[in-house]
Amino acid sequence: MMQPTVAIDVEFRNVAKSFGAVVAVDNVNFQIPKGSFFTFLGPSGCGKTSCLRLIGGFEQPDSGEILIASESVAQVPAYERHVNMVFQHYALFPHMHVAGNVGYGLRQRRPRMSAREISKHVADSLALVRLSGYDGRRSWELSGGQQQRVALARALVNKPTVLLLDEPLAALDRKLRKDMQVELKNLQREVGITFVFVTHDQEEALSMSDRIAVMRDGKIVQEGSPTDLYSQPLDRYVAGFIGQSNFIVGTVVEAGDQVTIKTERSVLFRAPKSKVAKSLLAGDNAVVAIRPERISLGNKHEAGVESFAGRVAQVTFLGDQTEFHVETEQAGRLLVRMSSGHASFVSGDPVIAYWKREAGLALLNE
Ligand SMILES: Nc1ncnc2c1ncn2[C@@H]1O[C@H](COP(=O)(O)OP(=O)(O)O)[C@@H](O)[C@H]1O
Ligand SMILES: [Mg+2]
Repeated sequence: MMQPTVAIDVEFRNVAKSFGAVVAVDNVNFQIPKGSFFTFLGPSGCGKTSCLRLIGGFEQPDSGEILIASESVAQVPAYERHVNMVFQHYALFPHMHVAGNVGYGLRQRRPRMSAREISKHVADSLALVRLSGYDGRRSWELSGGQQQRVALARALVNKPTVLLLDEPLAALDRKLRKDMQVELKNLQREVGITFVFVTHDQEEALSMSDRIAVMRDGKIVQEGSPTDLYSQPLDRYVAGFIGQSNFIVGTVVEAGDQVTIKTERSVLFRAPKSKVAKSLLAGDNAVVAIRPERISLGNKHEAGVESFAGRVAQVTFLGDQTEFHVETEQAGRLLVRMSSGHASFVSGDPVIAYWKREAGLALLNE
């Protein structure tokens, strides 16, 4: 039987782009499946916006090939690509009301679209972003969230193949951002358009994306589903960027699927090797990543788990969960997160921090 093939909407093949001496995009390869929510995640300056601008045709690559809907777009100017972009700053036309803003692109079309047709598309687009009835408002009569939804409607009205979103929620306050994350994800499902999203906020990326490309210094370090990246990070950078992790450094004593590691304080413990990371050999510098929610605190050493003795240095109540900073002799400071109901330790208490061996992930410490 043939494998069902997934249509690819955007593809980079060895794409590179420099600005003077700065390598903004460094031989990048990826494929974005049609209808998916794809996110570039990374710190400021790692090349996220440059990738979007290359897709949009606002920049030309120095080398490599860009394909949209399986066609090379080397010769296709920005205005002919079936791509629209939404920016962090909504950039609405202040002299136009909402309907004028949303219908702007349609009014530029040649041959002309009838006024009736335009107002129907505008109304459909405003309904999508839940702003029906706001046609006559001016931008200064709208909240930040509403302005951003108008910007979305203005992009969606063109029915692009791909919608590019460059940190569109970054200017919104926290509560509104959370609401908009849910709305944006629902909207993407509803319209089925491929969304290419850029953020430096890992929580935002995890909650919305089908796939995430984690970037660093112009390169994609790892690409995968949110659960892949969370449970099988390729290296310390990804493990630290996607969620929080404790990192215990040491040296590999014995390698295999299970790795035995000697900490800097000469304590031996074991952790499974990452399935996706480079292999570990005896003598390598290693780091074991352990998520704070996978560590528990108790009063005595148990059999069958990895454990370190320590003392509670700090307790932070977060509602349903509580965070503990535990100072251990052998592995330094560990961050532990437990359900508040199970955690009655206070600052200064001696404790045993323990985790199931499979909760650790041994990685090369580069
Ligand atoms: N037009 C430009 N001219 C000069 N340098 C640029 C230009 N655009 C981006 N850069 C540089 O390229 C690198 C990547 O930038 P960018 O893609 O905007 O990163 P991000 O969106 O991840 O913050 C940065 O070092 C930035 O200063
Ligand atoms: Mg940017």
